[in-house]
Amino acid sequence: MCGIFAYLNYLTPKTRREVLEYLVTGLKRLEYRGYDSAGVAVDSEDGKGIVLVKQTGKVKALEEAINESMIGHDIDSPLMSHCGISHTRWATHGEPSELNSHPQRSDEENSFVVVHNGIITNYKDVKTFLEKRGYKFESETDTEIIAKLVHHLYMQHPNYSFRELVEQVIQQLEGAFSLAFKSKHFPGECVATRRGSPLLVGIKTKTRLATDHIPILYGKEHRPHGANREVPMMPRTESTSEFQPLEDKEVEYFFASDASAVIEHTNRVIYLEDDDVAAVKEGALSIHRLKKSMDDSHAREIITLKMEIQQIMKGNYEYFMQKEIFEQPESVVNTMRGRVNLNDNTVTLGGIKEYIPEIKRCRRLMLIGCGTSYHSAVATRQLLEELTELPVMVELASDFLDRNTPIFRDDVCFFISQSGETADTLMALRYCKQRGALIVGITNTVGSSICRESHCGVHINAGPEIGVASTKAYTSQFISLVMFGLVMSEDRISLQTRRQEILNGLKNLDAQIKDVLKLDSQVLDIVKDLYQQKSLLIMGRGYNFATCMEGALKVKELTYMHCEGIMAGELKHGPLALVDDMMPIVMIVMRDGVYNKTINAIQQVKARGGQPIVICEENDKETMVFAHKVLEVPKTVDCLQGILTVIPMQLLSYHIAVLRGCNVDCPRNLAKSVTVE
Ligand code: AGP
Ligand code: GLU
Repeated sequence: MCGIFAYLNYLTPKTRREVLEYLVTGLKRLEYRGYDSAGVAVDSEDGKGIVLVKQTGKVKALEEAINESMIGHDIDSPLMSHCGISHTRWATHGEPSELNSHPQRSDEENSFVVVHNGIITNYKDVKTFLEKRGYKFESETDTEIIAKLVHHLYMQHPNYSFRELVEQVIQQLEGAFSLAFKSKHFPGECVATRRGSPLLVGIKTKTRLATDHIPILYGKEHRPHGANREVPMMPRTESTSEFQPLEDKEVEYFFASDASAVIEHTNRVIYLEDDDVAAVKEGALSIHRLKKSMDDSHAREIITLKMEIQQIMKGNYEYFMQKEIFEQPESVVNTMRGRVNLNDNTVTLGGIKEYIPEIKRCRRLMLIGCGTSYHSAVATRQLLEELTELPVMVELASDFLDRNTPIFRDDVCFFISQSGETADTLMALRYCKQRGALIVGITNTVGSSICRESHCGVHINAGPEIGVASTKAYTSQFISLVMFGLVMSEDRISLQTRRQEILNGLKNLDAQIKDVLKLDSQVLDIVKDLYQQKSLLIMGRGYNFATCMEGALKVKELTYMHCEGIMAGELKHGPLALVDDMMPIVMIVMRDGVYNKTINAIQQVKARGGQPIVICEENDKETMVFAHKVLEVPKTVDCLQGILTVIPMQLLSYHIAVLRGCNVDCPRNLAKSVTVE
């Protein structure tokens, strides 16, 4: 999920010092993507082996480690051809540590090394297969199986090309990845590939390129039928044609997760598509695919970038928060990847699997967090009550501690935290642990304190979140808790229809989020009338009450404007007094179990002259009658609707902040990780 950078020079003399500088600078350009550790691989001094340098923490620390490890070595002799690969890691499997950092290696000789962004969901099966064949694993990563599998195939088929080996490897992988490989058996070669994670190739030549297209070479596939979990070894793929040199002269290649890392070297790049295998051998780049599909083009275009680094870093986005809001169609899929199986309607949460029988026997569930993380608990409480048939308590960590809340051995306590470091949440965790409760961590940061101190947990896999305001972590926490409910109800016959409808909802969520994001310009129009106001009320109830609180928190923290999330059922108990024709109001009105009650609320608001901006289901004409302005979102199952209704609120707070000239990514007085009480 973070960054890959690889550099290959062919007939372009570069010293190892220069190569290392390129690699480190490449990683620095990718730093904005967030990461927890970093590493590089280059040829050893004698050119016969591979040296790895890896370090947790910042790229700066890696740079220092490199400088130290190169003391006394010759790094100033020019190398005519060389391939170096590097990586910034955002851990998904195994805490940030030197051993878990990439490049991961095949064996102690570093025969094959690989850098990986993404998640391999079937890594356990492949690991078992390789362990049976004598491979010893040294890290906790999913990635290590890739390095070992390529080595295993090489031992079986020593006459395969590097590219063919990688082609075989990726056929065995499930999940998401972008990968770059280097091997001492294939000096000066680099093979890179992707599926679901981004990767591009930058090309730098002295003279103009003869072509602006690289033809795709197709292989004849020999894929055995049936899902053999024992990792079938396929016969060799035959390419219709071999390498077609792009250039026979000096050339340099850059592989990177995004253009920000290559733009200072070249503006000529190829964006790889899923399952493309790009290989550089003797200075020639070729792109292979195993299978031809109907819509495949015949070539990949070399495009000329016309962007500034700054622009590329955030893509087309002005701020990280905006980027993270727009990443949600992908981040929600990453949260479900390898867990929700839509073929057989099962959900597997590997991190808590063994504890499920114990959780089923508990006397109550406690969901504890702060801020946005607390809201994800509020959002899913009703569903968890329904699917687990257990009492579910939702607690703000600070208040929970203030009350010295009674906790018992048969309680199961969930600690929800994006950063995994929030002091209040961590202290509440320790408090519950001391009293013998089972501790489940729901975090986005592997190796964080909450992760380490939990008995078991779920990693939400939303990818790094840089904006202080939490957005994609919220929707991923939400989905993680929904998945937990689905696991708990797997064998309840009476709940099967309900489970099925939720699973169908999850399946369509990414497409529906994309539709909601199309409301962006409509939200901006609404915001133009709102942004100078002093106050904003957001009302709703049932499954959408959490959206009101989360929306209000976003508006407060980003825009410094007063904003309140109001439970619509409470209106007549006080908040209605605030309503008049001047008070800006947003109301969330969905056609769920509380629809009629919400319509009552909207009528009460209208009767006091209120002019509500209504978030409702698409084409719900009946509800729109009450609206001063409308934002229509697609309909999903009631308990998931909050994922779709929160996005307009994220966009709304974002646009108000921009128009008010606030610092979107770093609001005043706030920090991303609140490590003090
Ligand atoms: C969210 O926009 C806030 N920045 C804040 O409420 C945050 O959710 C809270 O501090 C908890 O953080 P955590 O999820 O990292 O524990
Ligand atoms: N899943 C891999 C790991 O945990 C790669 C993570 C990344 O994308 O950086 O090591």
